[in-house]
Amino acid sequence: MTMTRIPATPIALQVNGRTHTVHAQADTSLLLVLRNDLGLNGPKYGCGLGECGACTVLVDGVAARSCVIPVGGVGARAVTTLEGLGTRGDLHPVQQAFIAEQAAQCGYCLNGMIMMTVSLLHDTPAPTDQQIRDALSGNFCRCGTHVEIVRAVHAAAACMAAADAKARA
Ligand code: FES
Ligand code: FES
Repeated sequence: MTMTRIPATPIALQVNGRTHTVHAQADTSLLLVLRNDLGLNGPKYGCGLGECGACTVLVDGVAARSCVIPVGGVGARAVTTLEGLGTRGDLHPVQQAFIAEQAAQCGYCLNGMIMMTVSLLHDTPAPTDQQIRDALSGNFCRCGTHVEIVRAVHAAAACMAAADAKARA
């Protein structure tokens, strides 16, 4: 039996504030396109099934699992990866807080934890411990860094609130 492959087609993507055109099959996962075509290795391949959170990106500002999003379905929505949050010299407050609180061991889960935290703090700027645990409950950390991660989320929230207050003054 001869298998017919779906041809790759040009697909335009808005990623980290820039428009990219990739050549891919429409059902290829967004994660694979980000990593393999655009060289963005922030999002990680964990389970590939939408269950671990390692591949989390923001789509129009909302956390989403890029391993189960077909690239052909993204359309004009804005995708933000870890690389789009901040730069080495100008890290996002959530990135700074995770570093300051040493909220990592192997670091494999960090992309998902950070992207999920950015999404959480957008909707809930001063979350309780329980709200943080609930929001991150679908992001797996095999190293057991949960205590430091919760601390980092609180630190990021405080830092962002302080910056917000300063900007309003
Ligand atoms: S790799 Fe996407 S949720 Fe696990
Ligand atoms: S720090 Fe290793 S999986 Fe979370």
